[in-house]
Amino acid sequence: MSVTILAIESSCDETSAAVCADGKILSNFIASQAVHEQYGGVVPELASRAHMQNIVPVVDKALKEAGKQLSDLDAIAFTQAPGLIGSLLVGAQFAKSLSLALNKPLIAVHHMQAHVLANLIDDPKPSFPFLCLTVSGGHTQIVQCDSPHQLRIIGETIDDAAGEAFDKSAKLLGLPYPGGPLIDKYAKTGKPDRFKFPEPQIPGLDFSFSGLKTAILYFLQENTKTNPNFVEENLADICASIQHRIISILMNKLKKATIETGIKDVCIAGGVSANSGLRTALKETGDKMKWNTFIPAFQYCTDNAGMIAITAYYKFLAGEYTPLTASPSAKAEW
Ligand code: KG4
Ligand code: ZN
Repeated sequence: MSVTILAIESSCDETSAAVCADGKILSNFIASQAVHEQYGGVVPELASRAHMQNIVPVVDKALKEAGKQLSDLDAIAFTQAPGLIGSLLVGAQFAKSLSLALNKPLIAVHHMQAHVLANLIDDPKPSFPFLCLTVSGGHTQIVQCDSPHQLRIIGETIDDAAGEAFDKSAKLLGLPYPGGPLIDKYAKTGKPDRFKFPEPQIPGLDFSFSGLKTAILYFLQENTKTNPNFVEENLADICASIQHRIISILMNKLKKATIETGIKDVCIAGGVSANSGLRTALKETGDKMKWNTFIPAFQYCTDNAGMIAITAYYKFLAGEYTPLTASPSAKAEW
């Protein structure tokens, strides 16, 4: 039997639709919302409105690119949680309407589980059980994945997410939002051991990034007192040193998780997995620790409907359908 699924992702500021046939992603169209740049962060109300404008053309493009029509679909999937409630409502309502009109099953997907299962889109794929470090603007988690239906958080941040640590540090340096990719860019020519930022001592597999942000604030205040041009003159070294510390915090906990679980297949996912330093660190640590390492293709790292489609595919095979009375939620039980 052939299974074709249309998936919709609208949890934050990307409107995305993807078509998946028998576990292969045929199209993954993403419309980003430039409207937020001038505000230095995502404005929820504007995000919902932009989703309303984007959703029909985005779904249309995804279907065309896949060479499919509405009548070819076997199920409609959507991101149920977590995310901005107004944004989630647009995708959920659209998916429910389509499911009702086509009389095809509806499949609700958990956004954070989908980030993890993005690692099952392309070959080579990790074997079960695997560990995934999911690092995005809103989340930092180590997830143990025993099967597509059994995922468990074994460590997570107790305050800021890794992406927030990048973005808030960038803001302190006067860089525009989102600052993560800019820190990555400047770090490439800087010395990572020039400035030492503290590594928090958090028990178990949990993370903390709020102390780092405060340390950077004090460090900048201290140094700009004597030299107002301190940031401009040392930007590359400051970025490299901040990035180095964020990565060491992440990698040390990931190493600990592999030792505690004995699991050797290790993935990363989420927007911060685009960071070149983190990608190199995963590869180098993986070589040393004899891990098999995996990183999804870039288009499946940031928010995208391809990851929703692959998760929905496994749910479809297991007959895990969602009633039309389902509603999205900003926060989600795992
Ligand atoms: O997963 P994502 O696209 O959106 C969600 O937060 O769900 O992640 C966005 C985060 C932002 O904090 C952004 O600064 C960060 O990912 N990011 C990066 C890089 N590219 C994106 N952080 C560091 N280096 C990058 N190259
Ligand atoms: Zn995300």
